[in-house]
Amino acid sequence: MTQTITVIRGDGIGPEIMDATLHVLDAMKLGLVYEEADAGLVALEKHGELLPQATLDSIGRNKVALKSPLTTPVGGGFSSINVQLRRHFDLYANVRPATSFPNTRSRFTEGVDIITVRENTEGAYTAEGQETAPDGSWAVSITRNTRKGSERIVRYAFDLARKAGRKKVTVVHKANILKSTSGIFLNAARDVAKEYPDIECNEMIVDNTCMQLVMRPEQFDIIVTTNLFGDIISDLCAGLIGGLGLIPGANIGKDAAIFEAVHGSAPDIAGKGVANPCALLLGAAQMLEHIGMVDEAARLRAAIVATLEAKDSLTPDLGGTGTTMSFAKAIAGRVAA
Ligand code: NAI
Ligand code: MG
Repeated sequence: MTQTITVIRGDGIGPEIMDATLHVLDAMKLGLVYEEADAGLVALEKHGELLPQATLDSIGRNKVALKSPLTTPVGGGFSSINVQLRRHFDLYANVRPATSFPNTRSRFTEGVDIITVRENTEGAYTAEGQETAPDGSWAVSITRNTRKGSERIVRYAFDLARKAGRKKVTVVHKANILKSTSGIFLNAARDVAKEYPDIECNEMIVDNTCMQLVMRPEQFDIIVTTNLFGDIISDLCAGLIGGLGLIPGANIGKDAAIFEAVHGSAPDIAGKGVANPCALLLGAAQMLEHIGMVDEAARLRAAIVATLEAKDSLTPDLGGTGTTMSFAKAIAGRVAA
C-alpha cells in the first residue's frame, strides 16, 4: 500500500529543512507520496488565511503529516497555528526525544536518552480565559486540566515505556503550589501508574527537575508532564544534547499525527541555507515508525549518527561549515538500503 503524507513546508527555515528532509527520504526509496499543503505566513499570503480548510482536509484524509515550523504573526489577534492544529485533530501526546549524539559541542555527547511526553491540548494552552484589563493594569488566564486528559497522557507515557523497552517514568508536576491544576494531574498519574507495576515510576517537582536535568540527566528515562512544563523541559533537554536542531516532536492523536522539529522558523538564519535539518529528519524517523516502517526509521537514525560521527558537512550550530543541503546529502549518502 502506498502511504500518502501531507507535507507542510512552513515559514522561515521551513522550506530549506523540508527540501533537505525529502531529499534524504527520497534516497531511501520508501515509495512515499507527498501531498503538499500550506499553513503559516505563506498560506496567509497565498490564500488569505493562516490555516486553510484544504490543509485540514489533507491531514484528515492522510492521517499523517510532516510539518516544518510555522510563524504565527505576533499581535493582530492570531492564535497559534500549531495550537490550532493540535486542538483540531486532538493530538494529545507530544513526544520529544532528546538523545546524545556525537560531535555536537554539547555538554552531553553521551549518556542522555530522555523522552519528554508533553500533554498537548490543555493546561496553560487552553483557548479560554485570556483577559487583560483595558488599562493594562492586570491580566488573567485560565489553566484547565481534566482527569481524562491527565489519565490519557500518563497512560500514553507508560504504554510508550513498555513498547520502547523503557524502565522508568518520571511524573513532573508543581502540585505543591498549583494544587488544583497540577494536583489533578499528579493524582491521575498516581492511579494510572498502579496499572503498570512493571515500570518504575517516580514524582518530581518541576523546578527541581530542571536542576536535576542539568546536573544528572542520565537519571531520566521518560518524563510525563503537563503542557507548559513539557514545552520548557523539552527545550532544556535540547540544550543538553546540542541544541534545537536535534530534537524532533511527534504530535499524536487517535485519528491523526503530525511530525515536526521542536524548533521554530528561526528568522535569524532563514534564507541562508545553514539550518540544521536533523530535527525534522528525526521527526521523519518518528513518522516512519508510526506508519510501521520501524527498520527504515532505525536506518535513518543510524545514517544521521554516522554522519555526525564522521563530522561530514555539519552545519554551523554543530561547529561545522556545511549547509543544510550538503549535510542532507552526506546523510542521504549513508541511508541507501
Ligand atoms: P526558534 O526555534 O525559531 O529559534 C531559536 C534559536 O535557535 C534561533 O537562534 C535559531 O537560529 C536557532 N535554531 C532553531 N532551529 C535551528 C536549526 N534547525 N538549525 C540551527 N539553528 C536553529 O525560536 P523563536 O526564534 O523563538 O521563534 C521563531 C518563530 O518560530 C516564532 O514565530 C514562533 O512562533 C515560531 N515557532 C514555531 C514552532 C512550530 O512551528 N512548531 C515552534 C516554536 C516556534
Ligand atoms: Mg516550544
